[in-house]
Amino acid sequence: MSTDRPARTEQVTTLTLRRMAAARERIVVLTAYDHAFARLLDEAGVDVLLVGDSLGMVVQGEPTTLTVTLDHMVYHTQLVARAARRAMVVADMPFLSYQTGPVDALRSAGRLVQEGRAQAVKLEGGRSVLPQVQAIVDAGVPVMGHLGLTPQSVHQFGSYRTRGTDPAERARILTDASALEEAGAFSIVLEKIPADLAAEVTQRLSIPTIGIGAGPHCAGQVLVVHDLLGLFDAFRPRFVRRYRELGAEIRAAVSEYAADVRAGTFPGPDETAP
Ligand code: KIV
Repeated sequence: MSTDRPARTEQVTTLTLRRMAAARERIVVLTAYDHAFARLLDEAGVDVLLVGDSLGMVVQGEPTTLTVTLDHMVYHTQLVARAARRAMVVADMPFLSYQTGPVDALRSAGRLVQEGRAQAVKLEGGRSVLPQVQAIVDAGVPVMGHLGLTPQSVHQFGSYRTRGTDPAERARILTDASALEEAGAFSIVLEKIPADLAAEVTQRLSIPTIGIGAGPHCAGQVLVVHDLLGLFDAFRPRFVRRYRELGAEIRAAVSEYAADVRAGTFPGPDETAP
């Protein structure tokens, strides 16, 4: 296994993202949860590595993101941050690490930056979490918002359906987006909302929007890396493009290995330590 590391190129910051959005250069965001994947994604030129609490579903095998703890997020953020040379690392704030108030929110964000080495944090919600956003931003930590489908509220919504399809919810998302920008958020994820609503939010804000299932008009796009690579089969959201079927590749490779071991053809004469 190679231990060579690529030369450090200029690191992506909130300023870089703002400049990219102003120049209409689309921002590439992917989730990452461990060192091996983070290194590959960073080398491939991903701009932002999001240590998402989707961790709960695609890595931990849970049915929702609600069981992810702050300790889990700190640990996985450390693994990702250790690999990132160029990409900016954003850590998700898990359920109950900020909803209880600005002091808790600031403590939690502080741990993700100080112990996890994240450069920014992301939290879900609009006007209901503004005091938290303000407290974190005032402490010098950049905050990414998250509107539309917010998976930490799945039990309140009752499903993972598209948000912002009726006029009242649409108006709420537009107002929340402006409020987050005013509170100092540097960017907002828009998840599973109609493309025309995402376009309107993007056009109204001066901070970049990052879409997932929100159409092509956002300043950037994010996907869960396990979805993109065909490593997660529990469900397949319509908005995901699966660029590879690595799950099938891995099953095939491991079956070949098992067959070789069982047949006694592995290891061969050149595959034994000298
Ligand atoms: O947890 C996550 O991976 C996310 C992205 C899907 C935006 O929040």
